[in-house]
Amino acid sequence: MSPDETRRCLSEGYRATPDGLINKETGRPVKVIMLVHLLGSMGDVDAFAKLADEFGLFLIEDAAECLGATYKDRKMAAPNPHMDAGRRFIATSFNGNKIVTTGGGGAFFAHHEAAAKRAKHLSTTAKADPTEFHHDELGYNYRLTNVFAGLGVGQLELLGDYVDRKRTIASSYRAVLSDTAGILQIHPEPAACRLTFWMFTVRLDRPARPVVDALGKCGIVARPIWRPMPGLPAMAGSAKWRELKASTELCSSAISLPCSVNLILPTNAGLLTRLRLRWIEPPGVQSLRIVPNYELNKRPELMRAAVRPDDLSL
Ligand SMILES: Cc1ncc(COP(=O)(O)O)c(C=O)c1O
Repeated sequence: MSPDETRRCLSEGYRATPDGLINKETGRPVKVIMLVHLLGSMGDVDAFAKLADEFGLFLIEDAAECLGATYKDRKMAAPNPHMDAGRRFIATSFNGNKIVTTGGGGAFFAHHEAAAKRAKHLSTTAKADPTEFHHDELGYNYRLTNVFAGLGVGQLELLGDYVDRKRTIASSYRAVLSDTAGILQIHPEPAACRLTFWMFTVRLDRPARPVVDALGKCGIVARPIWRPMPGLPAMAGSAKWRELKASTELCSSAISLPCSVNLILPTNAGLLTRLRLRWIEPPGVQSLRIVPNYELNKRPELMRAAVRPDDLSL
């Protein structure tokens, strides 16, 4: 939801009580705004921080996908000038598919010492005594091991380089796909942000799944994007605010394209050429059909027809 829609939701869908905001439909309290930064992009942090401040809510940012991005030149966990630091928390992920990885695990950021200590206590099995195995409440075994943390330190040294490579891949795609029929929108970069393009994504004018399947048959691994949570079985029937139009529409029509940092330039140029062949009709190529790689190899004129000189300088 946009900040405006979130404001409407909080004003119309909830009533203020001495104990805080209560959902008019379910009678349940709301404590938190959860801002999820997706696909290497960043949401409008300041707008949501102001809303959290105004409505007396916590702000939790899911920064699993935006490590390395900046918002108004601030890194993702930098202090926010618009809300009480004690009410804002950020978590990122070092899962295997993220821009840097330790294989699993993540990091939690808080600007409030007591909150950080509390999170550490809960994530280290709530062990309350340094010698004895006394756990003073229900805890979790969520802490990174030293081995994983060591890997993470090495990986973090590469983060800047990985972001640069992702951005190069994104601008290569942008150059080649900008005039492509069937693509309604290419991964936008808001003026206030410097994105990582962790998953370079385009919005199509047609259902995503058949395009993902067709590209897959040609060895191009594309992916549809996340389903809105109320559409998943575990969340079925949960309260939702209106129809979640934007995320529902994105889920059915957006696809992420291959963009691993090891997608190096010669491969990249070849990949881009194949994508063009499949999506557009360059001069001299009549068909929009999927051209299997073996056919492409046998008919180099298709390749030549689709390659523009600037594609090759990617
Ligand atoms: C937006 C988002 N949140 C949370 C997670 C879960 O992170 P983890 O696998 O580290 O628990 C992921 C992906 O793994 C994600 O993409």
